[in-house]
Parts: sequence; C-alpha cells; structure tokens
Amino acid sequence: NEINTVTQATAVKVPTLPDAQAVTEVKHWTDRLFSFRVTRPGSLRFRSGEFVMIGLMGDPDPKTGKQKPLLRAYSIASPSWDEELEFYSIKVQDGPLTSRLQHIQPGDEIILRPKPVGTLVHDALLPGKRIWFFATGTGFAPFASLLRDPQTYEDYDEVIITHTCREVGELQYGAELIESIRNDELLAELIGEGFADKLRYYPTTTREESPKMGRITDLMRSGEVFEDLGVEPLKPETDRAMVCGNLAFNLEIKEMLEEYGLREGANSAPREYVVEKAFLD
Ligand code: A2P
Repeated sequence: NEINTVTQATAVKVPTLPDAQAVTEVKHWTDRLFSFRVTRPGSLRFRSGEFVMIGLMGDPDPKTGKQKPLLRAYSIASPSWDEELEFYSIKVQDGPLTSRLQHIQPGDEIILRPKPVGTLVHDALLPGKRIWFFATGTGFAPFASLLRDPQTYEDYDEVIITHTCREVGELQYGAELIESIRNDELLAELIGEGFADKLRYYPTTTREESPKMGRITDLMRSGEVFEDLGVEPLKPETDRAMVCGNLAFNLEIKEMLEEYGLREGANSAPREYVVEKAFLD
C-alpha cells in the first residue's frame, strides 16, 4: 500500500508484522542447527529459562487468502540483562516453521509475542547445594540463559550442565558459551572471581566419537558420570535438577530423578526438579 511504499522509499524500518522484531545476527552451527539474535521489545521482562512464542507469517489460506502467524515455543537463550534476545534452533527441512526460519537474514523480521512463560525457573525449585542442568540437542537453549544468570551461582555451590548430542558439531554452541562464561568479567565482577570454579560442563555424544560417549541417562545408571565428576548420585537433600530435551529423554530422566527421590516442582509449588520439552519442528 501507499504508506508502505513511502516508508520503504525513505528507508525507515516500520514493522510490517504484528509484534515484529528485527533479526540482528544469524549463525549456522551445523546443517541441523542455527542460532539467531533479534531486537528486544522495550517492555519485555523475563526470568532466565522462560520461553516465548516466535515465528513467521504463514502461507495464505487457499480459500480465504488470509494469513495467520505460524508460531512455536522457543526458550530465550540470552540472559535477562542482554539488550537483544537470542534463540537456538533446529532446522527441519520439512518442518512448517524451521524450513523457512532457517533462511532468515539480519534485517528480516520475525514475530515475537512478548509473553514469557515456563517452568525452568529458579522460583520452581527449593533451595539446594548443587544444581544439575540436563540437556539434549537444542534443549541447551534455556540453560544458555540460566548459566549467565548470577542467581544460578549465588543459589548453588555447584552447577553441572550435561549436554548429550548425536554428533560433536552439535556441541559447539554450548561449548563456546561455556568458554565465554568462564571468561566473563562482568559475571566475575557481579558474583566474585571464583564463580567459574562452580561450573562443571559434561558434554557427551551418541553417534560420533568424542572424549565422552553415551546417553547421559545410561552414564548415570552405570555411575560413570558421578565417578567422572567426583560427586555423589543425586539426593533430594542436596540436589536440584532442570531438564530440557526431546520427549523420550525427558520421560526417561524424569523417572530416574523420581527414583533418586526428587519430586517435580512448579512455579506455584517449588520442589526438587523441573522439566520442559525442547521444541522440535
Ligand atoms: P541417540 O543418538 O542414542 O538417540 P535428537 O537429536 O534425536 O533430539 O537427540 C539428541 C540426543 O538425545 C541424542 O544424542 C540422543 O541419543 C539422545 N537421546 C534420545 N533419546 C534419549 C533418551 N530416551 N535418553 C537419553 N538420551 C536420549
């Protein structure tokens, strides 16, 4: 329409989508994984670990010609103090959203509903000594936020993040993030120089050779994880856990956590562990 033509001609960026945010950066990690950053709505506040609905405009309805937004739940991977928002996504070649989302470029717009929600939040856990973050695949995303939250290190003596992926390349996003956290001067200033000593990173692969192979669930059952890290198996008195991965993983580890005596918590009833499903298009 006319207004649009004028604004484009004068190169003023006007949102053309409802709840539009501009893409500022895109990084492709493997042929199955990418991350991207977008502008943050000025009013958006969120708790580390929460997710928002994001997406693109869907194809026009063949009958009515109307377009509806195509939205999915994405954990916010950036810390709550960041000026922008970061997301970490799978690429599914026939996935309704990610088949298109994987092609976004800086300057493009996406839809972002500014209503953060989710259960992977500190408020859903009772105080403890050690927190375990268990991730598979893109389930690392909420922990990318939580691992950059000073509260994580203030609340716990020890922070253990496990990440199980099929291939080594799929660990890279997480590995680089851990490295950057260890060298983060702002975090060190906020919570004290020794904070990085609390952070333990335990990456494993299942389908490609790497220093530590196997599903985290199997490595817990055999006791190998606990031996490697020099910690006792989980106990409700001391250990808390947050879980984010594919459905089969979530169900399996949930059962294991219950066997250790941990109970599932929620915002309204904090307990010893919480679970959320990683989005798979
Ligand atoms: P595996 O290769 O043995 O299936 P995906 O990419 O399919 O979401 O899987 C991510 C990682 O989660 C893979 O390493 C996969 O291992 C692992 N995984 C899948 N199901 C389970 C489960 N039930 N328990 C533990 N790990 C699992």
